[in-house]
Amino acid sequence: MSKNFDVVVIGAGPGGYIAAIRAAQLGLSVACIDAWTNAQGGPAPGGTCTNVGCIPSKALLQSTENYEHASLHFKDHGIQIKGLELDVGRMLARKDGVVKQNNDGILYLFKKNKVSFFHGRGGFGAKVEGGYEVKVAGNSEEVLVGKHVIVATGSSPRALPGAPFDEKLILSNDGALAIDEVPNRLGVIGAGVIGLEMGSVWRRCGAEVTILEALPAFLGAVDETIAKEAHKVFTKQGLKIHLGVKIGAVKADKKGVSIDWTDDQGAAQTLAVDKLIVSIGRVPNTGGLNAEAAGLALDERGNVKVDEACRTNLPNIWAIGDVVRGPMLAHKAEEEGVAVAERIAGQHGHVNFNTIPWVIYTSPEIAWVGQTEQQLKQSGRSYKAGSFPFMANGRARALGDTTGMVKFLADAKTDEILGVHIVGPMASELISEAVVAMEFKASAEDIARICHAHPSLSEATKEAALAVDKRTLNL
Ligand code: FAD
Ligand code: NAI
Repeated sequence: MSKNFDVVVIGAGPGGYIAAIRAAQLGLSVACIDAWTNAQGGPAPGGTCTNVGCIPSKALLQSTENYEHASLHFKDHGIQIKGLELDVGRMLARKDGVVKQNNDGILYLFKKNKVSFFHGRGGFGAKVEGGYEVKVAGNSEEVLVGKHVIVATGSSPRALPGAPFDEKLILSNDGALAIDEVPNRLGVIGAGVIGLEMGSVWRRCGAEVTILEALPAFLGAVDETIAKEAHKVFTKQGLKIHLGVKIGAVKADKKGVSIDWTDDQGAAQTLAVDKLIVSIGRVPNTGGLNAEAAGLALDERGNVKVDEACRTNLPNIWAIGDVVRGPMLAHKAEEEGVAVAERIAGQHGHVNFNTIPWVIYTSPEIAWVGQTEQQLKQSGRSYKAGSFPFMANGRARALGDTTGMVKFLADAKTDEILGVHIVGPMASELISEAVVAMEFKASAEDIARICHAHPSLSEATKEAALAVDKRTLNL
């Protein structure tokens, strides 16, 4: 006997579980299927983000930042610590605890919102009267029928050809979050978001970290001024970053991992490390969905093909999050989930792709929204720029963290904010003001005229907005 629902969501990552909750809030009957299994064999909803992504990485970043503060910076505050030690086992256990709280939180939210949860793998069955069959295999064995189906199956790490992940020596994000002893030498391939965040975690613990990046530019998608500043700081902190490299053979044995690579001058090099993190991007999860049988079209990159509104080629089948085009970010997946649920309910869900913020949770943090200076130059748009360094901000001085700056880019004629770029303390929090401003099509002058609390890091945002009109007050 099949169970019928208005909406069946496949995947309970941030895209899927949020879509399920929003659809239930709108009065629809909803099922959500997720395959993720915890160490005890139980369900672990939350997807990559909760289990091996956003949440555990931020837990380890916080623990290791505390450790770095205690070992390097507390003495500046007159705090002496003798016998400081890092207990990696406890740090990992705390991270696992944070993950579990989030898994449990989602199960609670499903109950609260009357979303029926099925633990197992969902795959398309037949097109039937009134919808689509979705077969669940695993802990729950069921046949569900959804009038609408939302595919929210996420993504998985991309391996280097010829060097599969063993999660002991050659690590994806999964293994990188579970290293149980600080490696003396850690290699990272790919100086993207994961490489920099996980490289920072293990560098702070004392590992010698070498990052090999194929592209000649560091953080090519980031505003150049910000990327340059970040590169300078990360290098000073001790990350060894080699750009413009070509990776050759990767061999793992009892002694560790050796990587043959060619540097940007064409010289052959070999890097020997105890462990290697490979963070060269991610691939969409469509295997096991039985997408071909259902006739679901994929694009040339293997993503489920969707239009602006997340509609697939099949009526009433939608797809959201990492499995479709666009940035692989949890909040982008969530926004698409909400918008699709609202569209199914007959409302006008909307996602503004121009105001999706990006954050890299290194120290200093990097955050931005909107266009970079190089994009504006390329598009020929005339713009004004203004920036303000945290060095001149009283709160940053009191914090003891004056690295970086806030940079505004505004239209030359209308003063509309086109992009805001931050490298510095709490950039992840500061960027929200810029997102709100851009959503409301604010001008740089609007921000410059708003009262900001003193002393606060947000005053650097106001000053950067003032700098667009060349009238900073504290510089
Ligand atoms: P996922 O989170 O991947 O969830 C998909 C779910 O579907 C999974 O549980 C999977 O098991 C399940 N599934 C797949 N196929 C099936 C099937 N056939 N049947 C049933 N279930 C299935 N983003 C941020 O915005 N901020 C961050 O700080 C951040 N940090 C990250 C750190 C790391 C190390 C990594 C790897 C990623 C990070 N991301 C971050 C990216 C973020 O995790 C993803 O963008 C986000 O998880 C995508 O959400 P999703 O719902 O599309 O897919
Ligand atoms: P990424 O796309 O951020 O970075 C991959 C890097 O690897 C790029 O710089 C690329 O040029 C390089 N690369 C690719 N192939 C290579 C090769 N063969 N040799 C050397 N370098 C190579 O991907 P990453 O770090 O794997 O993360 C995946 C995604 O997860 C991110 O794009 C992001 O969307 C998401 N994420 C978001 C986070 C956040 O929001 N704070 C944190 C971590 C991940």
